[in-house]
Amino acid sequence: MKTIFSGIQPSGVITLGNYIGAMKQFVELQHDYNCYFCIVDQHAITVPQDRLALRKNIRSLAAFYLAVGIDPNKSTLFIQSEVPAHAQAGWILQCIAYIGELERMTQFKDKSAGKEAVSAGLLTYPPLMAADILLYSTDIVPVGEDQKQHIELTRDLAERFNKRYGDIFTIPEARIPKIGARIMSLTDPTKKMSKSDPNQKSYITLLDDAKTIEKKVKSAVTDSEGVIRYDKENKPGVSNLLTIYSILANEPIEQLEARYAGKGYGEFKADVAEAIINTLTPIQEKYYELMESTKLDDILDEGAEKANRVASKMLKKMENAIGLGRKRK
Ligand code: TYM
Repeated sequence: MKTIFSGIQPSGVITLGNYIGAMKQFVELQHDYNCYFCIVDQHAITVPQDRLALRKNIRSLAAFYLAVGIDPNKSTLFIQSEVPAHAQAGWILQCIAYIGELERMTQFKDKSAGKEAVSAGLLTYPPLMAADILLYSTDIVPVGEDQKQHIELTRDLAERFNKRYGDIFTIPEARIPKIGARIMSLTDPTKKMSKSDPNQKSYITLLDDAKTIEKKVKSAVTDSEGVIRYDKENKPGVSNLLTIYSILANEPIEQLEARYAGKGYGEFKADVAEAIINTLTPIQEKYYELMESTKLDDILDEGAEKANRVASKMLKKMENAIGLGRKRK
């Protein structure tokens, strides 16, 4: 069985973009792959986090993973900081990475632009992400489009390491969904939907209630043409809503275009909102149930134990290949 690894940062709310671009794929893939899903809390601290909020968000993300349908009997769910090999392997990979290639990462450029104080961790974030992936001999990394460049760097680092120190890493591949890999902001459909957007109307969170979802979708920016047609260049707002609707209602975009021919944006938006509500309501019910239960801790304990076993073996291989420490059996 091939191995899958992916991670999500517990840095605030989880958006519909995270769900469509990443989590929905995870649920579908877990039946056919050996899966590791991680709550990457060490990545989250590359920007300042409130201590109590971070703790809460970690637990909340674990509950979301399970609520959307990750089955702990099929997948390994764990918290990055509970598996020390990630930080240790991350350090080794930082020493393989070049500053120039890290400075070229678009996520680093975006997140550091205009900021006076940027943490060194924000720059060295991708080698830690590479460690996450490479420790598990991952074949496939399901992610949204914005992570593509990080996976390419992971491949480069793995190849560089293999060439210098011996062939120990599997070279992973990104798996980016054909549609929904980049869900756009509702208020500016030329920008990615992002939890760090200061305008809350720009994103839908997995915990938004029906009224909030209706309001946000109703006020989503479209255009003045009044035609429901997929055209990413000229009609980014309508195209984004069509994408969301198509994925959540499991109906091809062309079929939706035909169904809404001659109809107005009002009716269309109400139906998009309904599709979102129908998807999120059962997830929210399971989420609240899980947050109350002790099951969550048992699952995370087991996940950390399994991940530690696998990751520490690969870390040892890395250390032996480089010559760190002493030779041990
Ligand atoms: P993060 O936490 O920003 O996002 C988690 C996942 O959600 C996807 N995503 C989107 N997909 C479609 N449309 C959007 N608007 C949208 N916004 C976010 C992201 O592409 C991602 O798949 N660096 C990663 C976390 C990470 C990781 C890893 C991922 C750390 N280590 C190892 C894979 C493998 C990140 O910041 O994702």
